[in-house]
Amino acid sequence: SGYITLDPGFKNTGATKSAITFLDGEKGVLKYRGYKIEELAEKSTFLEVAYLLIYGELPTQAVLEKFRSDIKAQMLVHEDMKNFFAGFPSKSHPMGQLSCLVGALSAFYPESLNPNQTEEEEYQTIVNLIGKMPTIVSWIQKKSLGHPVVYPKKDLGYIDNFMNMIFGEVNCDKIFDDAVLDAMRVLLILHADHEQNCSTSTVRIVGSSNANLYASISAGINALWGPLHGGANQAVIEMLEDIKNDGGDVQKYLDKAKDKNDPFRLMGFGHRVYKNFDPRAKIIKKAADEVLEKLGVKDPVLDIAKGLEKAALEDQYFIDRKLYPNVDFYSGIIYRALGFNSEMFTVLFALGRLPGWIGQWKEMRDNKEPIGRPRQVYIGETDREYVDLKNR
Ligand code: CMC
Repeated sequence: SGYITLDPGFKNTGATKSAITFLDGEKGVLKYRGYKIEELAEKSTFLEVAYLLIYGELPTQAVLEKFRSDIKAQMLVHEDMKNFFAGFPSKSHPMGQLSCLVGALSAFYPESLNPNQTEEEEYQTIVNLIGKMPTIVSWIQKKSLGHPVVYPKKDLGYIDNFMNMIFGEVNCDKIFDDAVLDAMRVLLILHADHEQNCSTSTVRIVGSSNANLYASISAGINALWGPLHGGANQAVIEMLEDIKNDGGDVQKYLDKAKDKNDPFRLMGFGHRVYKNFDPRAKIIKKAADEVLEKLGVKDPVLDIAKGLEKAALEDQYFIDRKLYPNVDFYSGIIYRALGFNSEMFTVLFALGRLPGWIGQWKEMRDNKEPIGRPRQVYIGETDREYVDLKNR
């Protein structure tokens, strides 16, 4: 009843008040809890940022140490999870596996089903998920290679542990260059939250029915998978490869992207909110240059990406529509230099986004927001006479 405002895609509708992430799309500003993203990317660890997003403050030394060790204590994943994980075809997409495994955690931790968990019980669920996520991701990577999983180590930090479970071997730890670990840290921080995007809104709306944290995050992972959202990082590298294999003619692909009869879009370009440079893309572009140089990697798609960016930024179509490179444009080039295959890119985005999703889920709960339930304007048939099957 009453007057319903239609806003497909929620282009102008605020769904919530939030104190987590501030984004000024015109100026290209991004802050977590009031701290500039550039400064956090320079100075903080990923778990510090995770704590900040979820609990609102940068942790003290003591709080951070407890948070870290509580997370580390939860990194092992129940061996029974392997039983159903074993059923996935080894070539199935990592995002499909990830959402199922994260959702399955609710079966192993039924206490999470209680929507009235105390703050301490909820904290345990949160550290459990943050602890298990890298281990689950590493299972998916190892399965794609047909290799045995590597267990988390007590003496390694969060990112080192993750990288070792991905690239190390059983009984043979891998030692990483600081540049590699730092690149991962920066990428995870830059992806950690981005206010009410598609996956975050999904997490909040699923959680608003009092669904448990694992189920809500699993839904967010599925939302992130699409190529218009997090899946763009995989789509970008595939597009750059296509351009390379097609002779490197960036103009041809710009023309395709501008052609309204062609569904092709320039992947990694454009953003619902940023009508200026995505501040994350600026940091990532610089990091891509640095990481490739430090690792001595020469990737021809980096030059194609730069050429494409330059041409697009000078093109009237992109200027008129304020289309700039977004976070996904250069991130895949770094992930690839670190040794990940392109199907894993969106999973890495999910690993980074996890604290943001959790923080948003918790904020929605703490503020006792009502169940998310949009309205509609009905445009279908009104009264119809039923016709029996034999007479249709
Ligand atoms: N290539 C070509 N044209 C584009 C592009 C693009 N990448 N993005 C937007 N446009 C055009 C669009 O066709 C429309 O033109 P017109 O006004 O003539 O109809 C205009 O720009 C406005 O676009 P829109 O689709 O109304 O904008 P939106 O806010 O609904 O969509 C977007 C935002 C990110 C889905 C879109 O820009 C896009 O599809 N980009 C490519 C996919 C991508 O890189 N996604 C990652 C987003 S950032 C991080 C994340 O979420 O993971």
